[in-house]
Amino acid sequence: MLELKTRKTQIKLTPETGLTILDHALKANVDWGFSCTRGTCARCRCYVAEGRELLAEASEAEEDRLEPEELAQGYRLACQCVVKEVGTISVTHKPYF
Ligand code: FES
Repeated sequence: MLELKTRKTQIKLTPETGLTILDHALKANVDWGFSCTRGTCARCRCYVAEGRELLAEASEAEEDRLEPEELAQGYRLACQCVVKEVGTISVTHKPYF
């Protein structure tokens, strides 16, 4: 189960391996703010509350854009963050602005 939360919405869907968190949000018509899809704008930034181990490791773009402490705390870029294994994942949209 993949739970996606934004300020306005909270939905649950079935995660698919190989897709990013942003891919899932867009497929489900969730209004998940984003812009570049390349890991540079950080508008898609999110907090992974549950299931961090089910996601692929941070991409180079995420390592460049996010502070090491943010990554350690569970912040990711939804456009870069790929589901690696199916299970319970909970992600909240947390852009800087
Ligand atoms: S959409 Fe720009 S960093 Fe994800």
